[in-house]
Amino acid sequence: MSKAEANMRQAHDVAMEFYHHLLMNTEDGEEALQYLLNRGFTQELIESQKIGWALPSWDSLTTFLERKEFSLEEMAQCGLVIQRESDGSYFDRFRGRIMFPIRDDNGKVIAFSGRILNTDAEEAKYMNSPESPIFHKSEVLYNLDRARATIRKTRQVVLMEGFVDVLAATNAGVTNAVATMGTSLTPQHIQRLKRLVEQITVCYDGDSAGMEGARRSAQLLKAERLKVEVAVLPDKLDPDDYIRAYGTEAFKTQIIDKPHAYIAFMMMYARRNKNFQFENDVLQYVQEVLEELVGVSSPIERDLYITQLANETSISQEAIYAQYRKLEATKS
Ligand code: UTP
Ligand code: MN
Ligand code: MN
Ligand code: MN
Ligand code: MN
Repeated sequence: MSKAEANMRQAHDVAMEFYHHLLMNTEDGEEALQYLLNRGFTQELIESQKIGWALPSWDSLTTFLERKEFSLEEMAQCGLVIQRESDGSYFDRFRGRIMFPIRDDNGKVIAFSGRILNTDAEEAKYMNSPESPIFHKSEVLYNLDRARATIRKTRQVVLMEGFVDVLAATNAGVTNAVATMGTSLTPQHIQRLKRLVEQITVCYDGDSAGMEGARRSAQLLKAERLKVEVAVLPDKLDPDDYIRAYGTEAFKTQIIDKPHAYIAFMMMYARRNKNFQFENDVLQYVQEVLEELVGVSSPIERDLYITQLANETSISQEAIYAQYRKLEATKS
């Protein structure tokens, strides 16, 4: 590791302590702390994650880092501060945000995600550290450092959309959850997961963006020959919302332990926004499901889903099989 990278890592450690202190011990942090407690974050979780508060000031971290003799040029390279074009001076990137440290696989903080308190504001809800010599977004799986032990033991991982959901799940005792950092799932993420497990449960938000994301991630994982299941949340809730509404037991027994098999999820997804009173919708539905079934190698599984398709659409199994074979021929 270069000297500059070591400095950047050390600065992140120092900044984490700085933000955490402001949240826990100062009047300026009170509103943010109350917000977290109201959201169901426990004191213990806030401490163990070293969650913090960035003051709504232009120079509080900048001044602090300068006093500790960090090079502000390096601090700008790792995204803690930003350089002004006008006069070359520096200012704090994160202002008035709850600070969530993002750790690498060895548990060292390499980036932050900052959440504003008031989502009516015009700014983005979450601001993440930029890509830097120590933070590579397309590789980081949030919480992998702490989840790895459970993942290895259970041979299972739960993939979520939001890192706050991972924290809520961890709090609920689901300790094998990870999340991407606001990016979609990349080949690098998948390779990292593949080295750890054969089986992945995708548990994205229950809104339409989450469903679409779950479909995309599930297809990518399936294409890499991982065993994929999809845990679906009702009423547009995300894991954190669900846990708050129905509790940790329900989250485990009703959601995490009852995922949909890959094809069953795809069928459910394909049925959305379709009206089977319209022929076109029926035909499109059958076609979409058959496209997925071509990848299913088990004839028994295939038969199960084709029977289900026939029952749902009142098209004969023979006709569906004929269509399936046509599709299979074009794909092989
Ligand atoms: P969500 O909008 O679902 O946020 O985005 P959330 O996790 O439910 O957060 P809360 O409950 O409102 O606090 C999911 C993920 O998308 C990225 C973040 O990584 C977030 O965890 N995201 C979202 C951003 O990067 N920027 C944003 O402005 C919003
Ligand atoms: Mn690097
Ligand atoms: Mn969302
Ligand atoms: Mn969400
Ligand atoms: Mn949420």
